[in-house]
Amino acid sequence: MEQVESIAIRYKVLREPLGLQFDENDLAKEYQDFHIAAYSNSEIVGILLLKPTKNPDIIKMRQVAVANDWQRKGVGRDLVLFSEKFAIKKSFKKIELNARETAIPFYLSLDYTIIGDLFYEVDIPHKKMVKIL
Ligand SMILES: CC(C)(COP(=O)(O)OP(=O)(O)OC[C@H]1O[C@@H](n2cnc3c(N)ncnc32)[C@H](O)[C@@H]1OP(=O)(O)O)[C@@H](O)C(=O)NCCC(=O)NCCS
Repeated sequence: MEQVESIAIRYKVLREPLGLQFDENDLAKEYQDFHIAAYSNSEIVGILLLKPTKNPDIIKMRQVAVANDWQRKGVGRDLVLFSEKFAIKKSFKKIELNARETAIPFYLSLDYTIIGDLFYEVDIPHKKMVKIL
């Protein structure tokens, strides 16, 4: 996958609705991340990134985005479940993420647990969630 494709879907689903752009510094930091995408024919319909952390047991899931027309059809679930298997193969023991409040029911349905209080990131409410692999 070209980085440009990975950016396009995340821009449309995650940034544009908030009136935000991607910052070049953010993008430069993603080169080391694993970009996992779902395709329908040759079109990307969902994506997420897995970012290793300083703790070798923990990988961070971020930028989870399913194309607007494809939401609530199981694409997000398939992406997360695939990513968990991928992380286990890479010997990670735990996934952490910062869930937008609106996406919390999605992660709860996949057995992620809320840890900690509501906080704000890109001006919207989030909660930290984790899953032991
Ligand atoms: C959140 C998101 C990634 C979920 O992906 P999705 O493909 O739409 O979700 P799925 O169809 O795989 O849903 C799996 C299960 O999660 C739960 N779920 C998903 N979205 C939900 C919602 N809005 N409200 C309640 N439950 C939800 C349901 O249990 C669902 O199963 P069901 O449809 O059989 O009831 C996607 O909707 C999205 O990209 N939203 C906008 C961007 C965003 O918020 N990203 C997450 C940032 S942390």
